[in-house]
Amino acid sequence: MKPGMNKILGIETSCDETSVAILSEGRVCANIITSQIVHKEYGGVVPELASRAHVKMIVPIMNAALAQAGFSLKDIDAIAAVYGPGLVGALLVGLNYGKALAWSRQLPFIGVNHMEGHVYSIFLEDEKPEYPFICLTVSGGHTDLIYVKEPLTYELLGRTRDDAAGEAFDKVAKMLGIGYPGGPEIDKLARTGNPDAINFPRSYAQAEHYDFSFSGLKTAVLYYLRDRNLLARDGAPVAQSPELNDICASFQQAVVDTLVEKTRRAATDYDVKHVAIVGGVSANSRLREVFTSMASRNNIHVYFPRLEYCTDNAAMAAYAGWLRLLNGETSPASLAAVPNLNIV
Ligand SMILES: Nc1ncnc2c1ncn2[C@@H]1O[C@H](COP(=O)(O)OP(=O)(O)OP(=O)(O)O)[C@@H](O)[C@H]1O
Ligand SMILES: [Mg+2]
Repeated sequence: MKPGMNKILGIETSCDETSVAILSEGRVCANIITSQIVHKEYGGVVPELASRAHVKMIVPIMNAALAQAGFSLKDIDAIAAVYGPGLVGALLVGLNYGKALAWSRQLPFIGVNHMEGHVYSIFLEDEKPEYPFICLTVSGGHTDLIYVKEPLTYELLGRTRDDAAGEAFDKVAKMLGIGYPGGPEIDKLARTGNPDAINFPRSYAQAEHYDFSFSGLKTAVLYYLRDRNLLARDGAPVAQSPELNDICASFQQAVVDTLVEKTRRAATDYDVKHVAIVGGVSANSRLREVFTSMASRNNIHVYFPRLEYCTDNAAMAAYAGWLRLLNGETSPASLAAVPNLNIV
């Protein structure tokens, strides 16, 4: 990328958010996100409906982003678009639109790893972690503990062996009949619940490795609800307040305890003083509370993105793309969508 070329247009369509952002020298000038509501009635993302909604939304969202930034396409220096991981049909919309836009305007194009976008969501804030730092990426499809040695250089310390933490939130919410996505609902109900009411399991919390597991916890909640006839009926909750709030708070606490303990241990073992928590579940209020108090006890600086940058957004993708472009990288027009793309 030529010096002075710094206005990046980023595109994110990996799942059920259509988002376009514009960054100038790494600062957000616009970040427009639309979440597709069409999936709510199915209790999960329907891939074909997601692709169709992206096709419908991509141009109006890009125009809205340009208007918010006060730019026209002529002002844009480069295009970044997410090419994986995600739903292939959804990825193809943003990736192909981005490639076509870059080609038609003769601009550099860079494909972005969505998970690298999550890692760099924290760099959209003024206060940035120092390298090396530990990054816990905790989202709908991932629970990864990453050692970020230097810019764009990662060592994977551990990951979930089964469900991602966000997936566990969503599945438990479904069992309780409190809606989709479940994370924000459980977070809300848990605020007035007792986190010590039920002792759900903390899988691998004391194990030597840095891997996670949430399927045992999910099954423990299932058996707890089944044995008490509290499983949702016709998508509606059977458990009522205050019991419902206690179940949410106890489940949430089990997830939070595991995430915080593993991350604390990784920071100690690697002698790292800066820790970032990113991805959709990093929006969780209890997770933020417990991480913050653990960090102050251990003299660790902890960083959370603002809520807008926790779940999927194009600003984080544009930032990661910008770093790659500054590093001299571009992607060919032949770049394909990679649904199971890894960060390392
Ligand atoms: N306040 C919250 N508490 C707990 N979980 C939350 C909260 N807000 C959002 N989530 C969870 O975050 C997840 C969505 O995050 P995100 O958009 O980063 O995931 P994704 O893009 O689908 O997956 P990935 O990034 O792994 O590909 C959902 O599982 C949702 O329930
Ligand atoms: Mg995501």
